[in-house]
Amino acid sequence: MQVISSPEQVQSFLLRQKQNGQTIGVVPTMGALHQGHLSLVQRARQESTLVVATIFVNPTQFGPGEDFEQYPRTLQDDLQQCEQAGADLVFTPKTDEMYGADAQTFVRVTELTQRLEGAHRPTHFEGVTTIVAKLFNITVPTIACFGQKDYQQQLIIRQMVKDLNFGVKIVTCPIIREADGLALSSRNRYLSETERNRALVLNRALRNAGQQAEGGVSPAQIAVEMQRRIHDEEGVELEYAVVADERTLQPVCEDTDSAVALVAARVGKTRLIDNAILRFPSTP
Ligand code: PAF
Repeated sequence: MQVISSPEQVQSFLLRQKQNGQTIGVVPTMGALHQGHLSLVQRARQESTLVVATIFVNPTQFGPGEDFEQYPRTLQDDLQQCEQAGADLVFTPKTDEMYGADAQTFVRVTELTQRLEGAHRPTHFEGVTTIVAKLFNITVPTIACFGQKDYQQQLIIRQMVKDLNFGVKIVTCPIIREADGLALSSRNRYLSETERNRALVLNRALRNAGQQAEGGVSPAQIAVEMQRRIHDEEGVELEYAVVADERTLQPVCEDTDSAVALVAARVGKTRLIDNAILRFPSTP
């Protein structure tokens, strides 16, 4: 496995590989890798002949007062895991190689970014779309894999790819969970044992939402019940719990076959998100 930090070198190498007929599968990450990321690398391995992981803690997607400085940086461990999961190349740029001192171009998706995560983290998605656009230009992917855990992120990236004609297929991979249901996240390592136990309420609320949906409970009632459960958990501060349209993220109030339940909460100082697709009984 190669490890390259120069954007120019990676770009010219991958352009050559693509001309030679390779299909390139890219997995963008911020490192601190866990089984969720590795499942993306494995998926890219199945669907492409050359697998590239990128590791870059992107400063522009962190707001003021967020955890940019604290974000775990575990490069040696990450590289080992990438190799084991089947990556051929890991791109590890430095901040000044990705953002010139005179950088003045940003990519902004206007509507999908307004709600939910965007409402709580107003500058976040512009940072994400800008860096992902740059990573796509550098790594020229045939496919790129993202986790469903960041549900809104993958929708926004799909929108950007469509609007800006990036010729890349976006593959969204299932959420990987611990045995007790906690969705894997690099931020889980911030949690104390007590906080980790409290964080399980997110998955419990989503599982209950799934059962209620199957039982024909209305989306609006399901949202209220998720909010109640998360709100009532000691040490957990609810940010949102909604039932939304899978494509537009607008709240779903009427009869529907399926929808996505999305939750965000703070557990101590740690902000966690999770989601689940809900299936409703078909209406005759
Ligand atoms: O999902 C992430 O880890 C990041 O938002 C991404 C897509 C790698 C962009 O920095």
